[in-house]
Amino acid sequence: MKAELKEKMIREAVLVKVNSYSPYSKFRVGACIAMKNGDLVTGTNVESASYPCGMCAERVALGSAYSKGYKKEDIVGMAISADSKGFISPCGMCRQVMSELMPLNTTVYLLNSKQEVKEVKVRALLPLAFDLKESK
Ligand code: THU
Repeated sequence: MKAELKEKMIREAVLVKVNSYSPYSKFRVGACIAMKNGDLVTGTNVESASYPCGMCAERVALGSAYSKGYKKEDIVGMAISADSKGFISPCGMCRQVMSELMPLNTTVYLLNSKQEVKEVKVRALLPLAFDLKESK
């Protein structure tokens, strides 16, 4: 993806953290998905007093993108930001959803609190992801 779009996407992933609803974990996460046409779609983690109902930023962003009508083929990158010492790393549930809703060769940019960036492909996040088409 173009350097300018990548930088914008990373900036939005950082900025959107202010909207995180995370009173239980007090751990704010922001995600931003970049589209082929240059559009950006963001999400944050949204928690619940019934803890398992909480949603991660990655799945909120992907749900929002699909709800707006974007498709897998439109996605060119995702950035994830947290105020953590280490690079934020998506949970297992998000990896499963990312493997289905994003092209496997999409680069995911993982940030730490210093806004250093680590790159990983969706394909590498979840080897042997469950795929209903392959399993039937
Ligand atoms: N969380 C995310 O939103 N994304 C991740 O990649 C890791 C964890 C959220 C879930 C929960 O609201 C909080 O961070 C602490 O686990």
